[in-house]
Amino acid sequence: MRSAYMTPEVALGARRPDEVDADLLVVPVFETPAAGEDGWLDEAAGGVLSRARASSEFRGKLYDTFVTPVTAAGWKTRRALLVGAGKAAEWTPERLRRVATTAGLYARQRHIQRLAFVAGGSNIAAAVAAQVIAEGVCHANFDGGSYKTNNDRWGWLQHVEISLPDDRNAQSAVERGRIIGEFTNQARTFSNEPGNSLTPRVFAERAEAIGTAAGLNVDILDEKKIASLNMGLLLGVARGSNEPPRLVVLRHEPANPIPGVVLAFVGKGITFDTGGISIKPAQDMDRMKDDMSGGAAAICAIAAIARLNVPVRCLTLVPMTENMPGGRAVKPGDVLTSAEGKTVEVLNTDAEGRLVLGDALWYARQLGATHLVDLATLTGACVVALGKTTSGLFGAPSTWVEQVHRASERAGDRSWPMPTFDDYKELFKSEIADFSNTGGRPAGSITAALFLKEFTGDLPWAHLDIAGTAWAEDAKPYQPKGATGVGVRTLVELALDAPTWGKLNLRR
Ligand code: BES
Ligand code: MN
Ligand code: ZN
Repeated sequence: MRSAYMTPEVALGARRPDEVDADLLVVPVFETPAAGEDGWLDEAAGGVLSRARASSEFRGKLYDTFVTPVTAAGWKTRRALLVGAGKAAEWTPERLRRVATTAGLYARQRHIQRLAFVAGGSNIAAAVAAQVIAEGVCHANFDGGSYKTNNDRWGWLQHVEISLPDDRNAQSAVERGRIIGEFTNQARTFSNEPGNSLTPRVFAERAEAIGTAAGLNVDILDEKKIASLNMGLLLGVARGSNEPPRLVVLRHEPANPIPGVVLAFVGKGITFDTGGISIKPAQDMDRMKDDMSGGAAAICAIAAIARLNVPVRCLTLVPMTENMPGGRAVKPGDVLTSAEGKTVEVLNTDAEGRLVLGDALWYARQLGATHLVDLATLTGACVVALGKTTSGLFGAPSTWVEQVHRASERAGDRSWPMPTFDDYKELFKSEIADFSNTGGRPAGSITAALFLKEFTGDLPWAHLDIAGTAWAEDAKPYQPKGATGVGVRTLVELALDAPTWGKLNLRR
């Protein structure tokens, strides 16, 4: 099996573009450049850029690409890739990140291994530019075809030099970008993995290996330990499968942590979701191998946080199981008792994510969490509401939700707040138990979120529904089809920002 990703070397240099020795010079080009802005480039390429603009062959349209030889004497790199950067007024770090991925994918397709990025002259701070370019090129160095046996594949980027005006923060930003990029790719690798190879036991073992390598504390709870904690919701979902469940707990305990903060990430880890007895239709059921993307993001983010020595205590909890229609499977109408003691009538066995997360959220509180964030490919309704580019964001209080929202914006993982009014709770009331596990079609992503809220006590809690964003259906210049690694960057950015939380009022 071929490795799914490779983290390229990324170096920062203040060398002039003519001095850099690479296979391809990469330059973002705006639609309407400021006077003289890319004159140097036009000159180096013998006027090709101005001619391409005049003929409309290349106008800097966002993510368009155009290659030209560098004809000027004395330049070490002999070709340049111009990547459209769109309108200068709309330029953002997220666009620069995607331009970097576009360039990386273009190069890999042609087995070009060494890139030199020229990114000066923009309104983005050097350290931010360095981080997002590093993330973007790492993101390009991912290959979803690990099980293909032909070796006629795209190459890997080996080396990227970023020339930026000298900045002492930029060096650590490059390293941060590489680590975030690496663990985003690890999360994509997990989501891509088929259900027959990534069973709950295998997922737990791999989480342990990643956690140990990153210096995390690892605790893997097996089915006996899960039973002794009375996790009836997790066990209820697992009943239909021959594979035993696992609950992975990873802990980041830095030497000098911010006092009073234990940031907990809880991720849905359904390694395959058939729907159970309320079985899903055959069409697109294969996609449900990625129903552990929230868990993958929670595991990979805490590993990145440890590698970055972020001074915040963090916890990751991932309940792992298959959702299968076996002879002993939970049936519609069955009542399960959660570890917290609340009872749930299972009206639809396909609403399994909220069940396993309910027990895990409770356990996060037992382990001392002070702030909760959960990530889950939770509802088709969220895809209907927000589509494939934006995750649903829920939670309480709004100060905490806003904090998570800002982290996701910085990360380029778009999210948008959804309401959690108590009025919606009557949609999932039960005649026989405390509540049921589904509220039907109306407000489906909201009732799912309100179900989770039942297990969060009075802690600040945010929930990201990534059902639409975990998997890209169509290839884009900056995003190949398949697993996206959504959430990893958001969680890392959130932890990096923890020193500013002191001023927040987080009372619910
Ligand atoms: N894993 C699915 C949600 C999902 C659907 C993710 C489509 C990605 C794409 C989840 O377990 C599920 O089946 N949810 C049900 C809930 C319903 C039965 C209340 C859904 O959304 O249909
Ligand atoms: Mn389901
Ligand atoms: Zn599911």
